[in-house]
Amino acid sequence: MPHLSPVPTMSRVVTLARRPSGVPQPTDFSVEEVELPRLREGDVLVSNEWFSVDPSMRIRLHGGDSAYFASFAVGAPLEGWAVGRTVASEHPNFQVGDYVFHSAGWREHAVVAPTADAWTSPRVVDVSRSRPPQTYLGALGPSGLTSWAGLLHVAELREGDVVYVSAGAGAVGTLAVQIARLRGHRVIASAGSADKVRFLTDVLGADAAFSYRDGDLSDQLATHAPGGIDVYFDNVGGDHLDAALAHLNPGGRVALCGSISSYNETGASQPAVRNLFRAVEKGLTLRGFLARMFADRREEFQRDLHSWLESGSIRFPETIVRGLDAAPAAFTGLFSGQNLGKTLVQL
Ligand SMILES: NC(=O)c1ccc[n+]([C@@H]2O[C@H](COP(=O)([O-])OP(=O)(O)OC[C@H]3O[C@@H](n4cnc5c(N)ncnc54)[C@H](OP(=O)(O)O)[C@@H]3O)[C@@H](O)[C@H]2O)c1
Repeated sequence: MPHLSPVPTMSRVVTLARRPSGVPQPTDFSVEEVELPRLREGDVLVSNEWFSVDPSMRIRLHGGDSAYFASFAVGAPLEGWAVGRTVASEHPNFQVGDYVFHSAGWREHAVVAPTADAWTSPRVVDVSRSRPPQTYLGALGPSGLTSWAGLLHVAELREGDVVYVSAGAGAVGTLAVQIARLRGHRVIASAGSADKVRFLTDVLGADAAFSYRDGDLSDQLATHAPGGIDVYFDNVGGDHLDAALAHLNPGGRVALCGSISSYNETGASQPAVRNLFRAVEKGLTLRGFLARMFADRREEFQRDLHSWLESGSIRFPETIVRGLDAAPAAFTGLFSGQNLGKTLVQL
């Protein structure tokens, strides 16, 4: 078995200590030392260097599976996108030293094996100066594909569209704002603080931005988009979706990307969308999507994103925390907006 010595036998993982009620707290998680399984034929042992911290993990902390999100079990390690280096391999396509992108993050070492699922199956990635490993978790990874596909293939941007992006200062939002600007659109973005609003206009080039904490959302949209909006890239759901529905022009389109305002709620406490009849009146199209539905366009979106990053046409801000122990607070911080851009844990 080829390997870099010494091959570890023990490692550390973040587990779910208890199911959170409402906004998750760092104490809902624990960090434990575990024994690594012996590699079997086809297995690869990866020393994780980076992993991604994503709002959708909150959905997996509720009990009960949905169509796309398997629930995390109490006491079991969490999962998420990660990049690391192969330290031992029993698979011919993975060599010691290779960088591997895979879905077994939230741990220092992962034993992974290729599967038939092209979206989650581990794969070797090309790391270079212009493609540092963590870019495969962000702009060249799921966040990049989400914003690229959401705008171009779900909302089907058309010339002259006025675009509104909520959670505009987050991982998906920062890219959506910039891609829409690059395509020549007027872009309005919202976020949760004055600093983020300034970042959106002064650094990312949004034509207008506002804080949803500064007043009525609908009034603020009326101010910044007096002629209405044609496309809404929805990262938040609830009150943000309601306000956008009120201001969408006839024939407008909504890319339903996420609904972070509802992830901590269950049952009747989930925010209601009251303006849905506006979609009927105005012939709007509301289309939900998951990045994985566009997995077959990975090379195309990576080519676009890589060239925009290299030319400096877009930026990709990152909020980096160091060490496994800091990961739970980085995750819970997503719900109070502590991050700017992509949230990453570096090990
Ligand atoms: N469809 C897909 O395949 C797909 C893939 C990736 C992500 N997503 C979704 O896209 C959205 C953004 O994900 P991301 O990874 O880019 O996360 P992110 O935007 O980097 O982080 C989440 C942000 O949401 C904002 N937020 C939190 N609670 C809020 C609330 N109640 N109302 C308004 N804003 C709130 C916070 O910023 P503020 O300071 O602005 O409040 C926070 O920084 C999420 O809904 C996520 O689930 C979907």
